[in-house]
Amino acid sequence: MQADNSNAGAKAAGKHGPDEPHNLEPDSWPEFRRTAHEALDAAINHLQNRAQAPVWQRPPDRLRHGLRAPLPREGTDSDALMARIVTEFLPHDVGNTHARFFGWVHGAGTPEGLIPDIFAAAMNANLGGRDHIANEVEKQVISWCVEIFSFPPGAGGLILSGSSMATLVALKAAREKHGGTGLRDSGLRNGPPLVAYASDQAHSCIARAFDILGLGKDALRPVPVDGDFRMDLNALETMIRQDRAAGRQPFCLIGTAGSVNVGAIDPLAALADLAAREGLWFHVDGAFGALAVLEPTLRPRLEGVERADSLAFDFHKWLHVNYDAGFVLMRAAEDQRRAFSERPDYLAGAARGLAAGNPWACEYGPELSRGFRALKIWYQIARFGTTRLGALIRMNCAQAQALGQRVRATPALTLLAPVALNIVCFRFDPGGLGGPELDRLNSEIVIRLQEQGRAAPSNTRIGSALAIRVNLTNHRTRMADLDALTKDVLQIGRELTAGE
Ligand SMILES: Cc1ncc(COP(=O)(O)O)c(C=O)c1O
Repeated sequence: MQADNSNAGAKAAGKHGPDEPHNLEPDSWPEFRRTAHEALDAAINHLQNRAQAPVWQRPPDRLRHGLRAPLPREGTDSDALMARIVTEFLPHDVGNTHARFFGWVHGAGTPEGLIPDIFAAAMNANLGGRDHIANEVEKQVISWCVEIFSFPPGAGGLILSGSSMATLVALKAAREKHGGTGLRDSGLRNGPPLVAYASDQAHSCIARAFDILGLGKDALRPVPVDGDFRMDLNALETMIRQDRAAGRQPFCLIGTAGSVNVGAIDPLAALADLAAREGLWFHVDGAFGALAVLEPTLRPRLEGVERADSLAFDFHKWLHVNYDAGFVLMRAAEDQRRAFSERPDYLAGAARGLAAGNPWACEYGPELSRGFRALKIWYQIARFGTTRLGALIRMNCAQAQALGQRVRATPALTLLAPVALNIVCFRFDPGGLGGPELDRLNSEIVIRLQEQGRAAPSNTRIGSALAIRVNLTNHRTRMADLDALTKDVLQIGRELTAGE
């Protein structure tokens, strides 16, 4: 039997000095152990039975109102809180742990992900710096990423919340590489305006990074794409020439490895050549697509990524690490350190003791306090290995091709973009309807699929057409799920048009 903690003993003794009678330890360790085991069982049950529940169900108003409670002055019993989580929160998740979740670009997570998260909570490590093992785990992840993408010695990186943050960190390093680290003190007051280039299909997080960095969103030039949604190199060269002639200063070229709308991969090797010729920083947004390098049959399509100065990608997408887990990989870790390092007196390093382990991770990005995301990434890669993880990426791409073929073979469905990787954009079009009517119809089909809990694709626009967008970054999806999806789209589409 475990001894109870000292709260009870201290209370009984009635002597606390300046100490309060309580801390935040369990009042009873055996009770806590029971509750924690029940929590783990409930979490496992949720995942094991997830397929039987709707993909998504809207959180009822009753539950939302329950979450507008006043600030609790006193605590609540843990059993009551756990019951609330199990009955009210778990059934109303976003749905990405279900095989029929196809929306946006959500990874599916794994039951195994529970294990590192438990230990990360137990260690409660802060990876901003200092000399402890969690930082070594992050360094191991960094060196695996260097190896995955064949980056040279001197490369490095940082684990971040996602590709939006990774993009911000990469572009700050690019800005300082071009303008000098003096920019960190003086800001962007002087000099010709800096400009950069990405395809008009690039993710909005890139323009947002330009906004946050004070460069302005207009500094990011949208380059037109070809019929396969890949950046048009002739148009790019013309734009660079025109910008230089107008006295602007190009500093960065951004390629996309897996565009958010259709999964297109820009011609990365040609972009790397052009960046070298023009003296531009070459950044690649590979949020989901970059990790396709793990699959040998897909790797050649990403040729050129290994020449990037920086690469943003996510473990929480196609590697199925539980949220959140993104990464910035840098060709020269020193460029990143120069852009972020601050070591005031209270964060000074030491050769020995806890303040050793230099340089610290906080010198490579905006965050000082950093959680132990590295553990779940390390665990996922070590547990499954890159061969199996890569095979699941291959499976999703093959499924996307098969779905694309099914759409082409179905008269009432129209494919709206070539299937480049893992995304299929199509719509229900029974004929005889105008553009706006088709848009409304396909938006309603997606909403009904979601509301009925049958499947969760999302919408986007391909040109002027509203598309049903199916993204496959889901290791649980099988062809039967995609068959059911096309059947449901046709059924709902026919019901809606019959009713009009
Ligand atoms: C191509 C691309 N870039 C960037 C992002 C942003 O990534 P995150 O949501 O991890 O910040 C996404 C998200 O889906 C994306 O698809």
